Amino acid sequence: MCFQRLNHFPLFLTFFLLFHHATPNPIKTVVVMVMENRSFDHMLGWMKRLNPAINGVTGSESNPLSVTDPNSKRFFFKDQAHYVDPDPGHSFQAIREQIFGSNDTSANPPPMNGFAQQAFSMDNTSRMSENVMNGFLPDLLPVYKTLVSEFAVFDRFLSFVLFLTPSNACEHLWIIYSWLVRWFASVPASTQPNRLFVHSATSGGATSNVAAKLAAGYPQQTIFDSVYDAGLDFGIYYQNIPATLFYRNLRKLKYVLKFHPYDLSFKQHAKEGKLPSYTVVEQRYMDTKVFPANDDHPSHDVYQGQKFVKEVYETLRASPQWNQTLFLITYDEHGGFYDHVPTPARGVPSPDGIMGPEPFNFTFNRLGVRVPTIAISPWIQKGTVVHGPNGSPTPTSEYEHSSISATVKKLFNLPSFLTKRDAWAGTFEGIVQTRTEPRTNCPGGKGTFYLSDLSFVLCQNTKRRQLRASYTQLARANLQNKSQTAEWIVKNCIAAALNPVSVAPVHSVDSLPRREPKLGKRMFCSEDTLKLSLETLKKLPTPVKIREGGPNEDAQMSEFQQELIQLAAVLKGDNILTSFPGKIGKDMTVKQGKDYMDDAVRRFFEAGRYAKKMGVNEEHIVQMKPSLTTRSSKSSNRNP
Ligand SMILES: *[C@@H]1O[C@H](CO)[C@@H](O)[C@H](O)[C@H]1NC(C)=O
Ligand SMILES: *[C@@H]1O[C@H](CO)[C@@H](O)[C@H](O)[C@H]1NC(C)=O
Ligand SMILES: *[C@@H]1O[C@H](CO)[C@@H](O)[C@H](O)[C@H]1NC(C)=O
Ligand SMILES: *[C@@H]1O[C@H](CO)[C@@H](O)[C@H](O)[C@H]1NC(C)=O
Ligand SMILES: *[C@@H]1O[C@H](CO)[C@@H](O)[C@H](O)[C@H]1NC(C)=O
Ligand SMILES: *[C@@H]1O[C@H](CO)[C@@H](O)[C@H](O)[C@H]1NC(C)=O
Repeated sequence: MCFQRLNHFPLFLTFFLLFHHATPNPIKTVVVMVMENRSFDHMLGWMKRLNPAINGVTGSESNPLSVTDPNSKRFFFKDQAHYVDPDPGHSFQAIREQIFGSNDTSANPPPMNGFAQQAFSMDNTSRMSENVMNGFLPDLLPVYKTLVSEFAVFDRFLSFVLFLTPSNACEHLWIIYSWLVRWFASVPASTQPNRLFVHSATSGGATSNVAAKLAAGYPQQTIFDSVYDAGLDFGIYYQNIPATLFYRNLRKLKYVLKFHPYDLSFKQHAKEGKLPSYTVVEQRYMDTKVFPANDDHPSHDVYQGQKFVKEVYETLRASPQWNQTLFLITYDEHGGFYDHVPTPARGVPSPDGIMGPEPFNFTFNRLGVRVPTIAISPWIQKGTVVHGPNGSPTPTSEYEHSSISATVKKLFNLPSFLTKRDAWAGTFEGIVQTRTEPRTNCPGGKGTFYLSDLSFVLCQNTKRRQLRASYTQLARANLQNKSQTAEWIVKNCIAAALNPVSVAPVHSVDSLPRREPKLGKRMFCSEDTLKLSLETLKKLPTPVKIREGGPNEDAQMSEFQQELIQLAAVLKGDNILTSFPGKIGKDMTVKQGKDYMDDAVRRFFEAGRYAKKMGVNEEHIVQMKPSLTTRSSKSSNRNP
């Protein structure tokens, strides 16, 4: 058995949190990462097995094949999610059917019963229905499994029961400490409208991915502009192409130097403590053999996504800026996968009064399906639970993508909201305002540990039972000898971990103290070898490959990838060609598309840097010509 830290402490903390936000804002850097197309239940639903407070699934959730047939075959939610291909439906109509089971949107709360039926309409072999009614086992997503345990997950319920449940597994010991609130996609629609909401709190009326408009660029004010106007810095670390260039403003010359190739710059800037106030990390959207996509978009391997999250986390963790960083990972939309939490369908304001296109004339009065969101910061209290924005700032407020700009506005004291939507969205700056100093025991750290974290380390190991035994015995030995140094314990725990046979059998676990032993709080490891082994152990777990075989780089490009190609065409000046937009990219394979993008992006930024040097008006956007010459045009009169 492990030591139980506890019992009423977290309860007290929750209370404290709601009414007392005393600590001033410690966050100077917000890092945002938007993954692709997965629902909360699909990714994190089964984490409920590790922590009952997570509003996930039990397996009793089901959807009928036909909503109108009471005797219909039912699909129960399973834990067999693995590699998913093809892509389930996530158009406006498809999502309406998933949420309401029909075209009638009057039900409140929505029954969330049309996922299997909608999938069946796309693939009548039932394979897709099974796919959308499935979630990942936590062990397949080991990085999230750890992050969920250490930091905030935006989910729903506050569970008092949790803290009173005795835990006799080490996993429970550490998994218990997390934040739980709920977070929805901003629009019940596909990728791009939701991605637009993330940094601008509106999609400018878009309810689908409109390639021509995306290529021309959406004109609204973004959080990047607000941050910049307030004299703060922002930066976008891109891989194939920055999808943030779908915001027209970001193409302006004044922002050219805000874009950095991830591979060359991200680790370097983090190491030098130079990450900007608002930092966006973009994935590889193109799946090639040498550089597999890591955006979690089906059919890409989530293993790559896990590796990427781990890399970004560990980079931030090692940065001198770590103590002032808040790292957010969210998913743009649910990608057609089932989620059991009814999407809020009342009291949601239109951001800007712009109505969606016919035939739906959507007024942006409903949110999308719940998606996974994880907040990470050393300022987030391990052991605190919060549920939803709690009627603030309005009684109907929820967490959704606009909560990012709303929270950034508060953290950075920006003068105004972007739209009515971020003015309404719940903010979560409270989660970083309860501690008086940052945690020093986050995974991936160096040298300083709490005893409870050591159990985490050791429990990660395969020989769990023995290791737990060794650990508890050592801890117990220490309790009996107050002068035992912490270093000694750590060293011996490691020795025990590496060679469990060398320690004597454990005493009855029942005789162990119920509380974490008090060891004078911290333990410092001075020996280099010890540090090394601890560091290795303390890294986030290494994910394993899920997809068999590698990327098919000769495949045709997906819709999303074609939108990116059209963006690349605009950057490169090929949009003047008669083949634009319809034909551009249609005949390209994924590999060719990637090469085309790489070239377009490189040229666009090169030309931008040159124009900037030449003193061209910074409000302008560089317009390339297919002939490779460069001219600058006023930003307002370009493109169809
Ligand atoms: C829902 O609307 C679509 C068109 O948007 C139509 O094709 C479909 O038949 C309708 N379904 C039902 C159940 O009315
Ligand atoms: C599936 O669709 C095919 C072709 O549209 C049809 O021939 C077949 O009968 C359908 N199967 C089921 C189970 O509905
Ligand atoms: C995810 O979103 C993009 C954009 O809507 C779309 O093209 C894609 O098909 C969606 N689903 C998947 C699995 O990609
Ligand atoms: C972060 O803060 C902790 C606690 O104050 C301190 O021990 C640690 O050295 C700091 N880390 C960095 C990178 O500044
Ligand atoms: C949508 O709006 C258009 C133009 O405002 C109108 O002609 C049409 O009837 C509306 N459609 C619906 C379904 O309300
Ligand atoms: C307690 O620990 C100290 C430091 O490791 C050691 O020198 C001492 O012998 C121990 N005492 C007993 C009774 O084990």
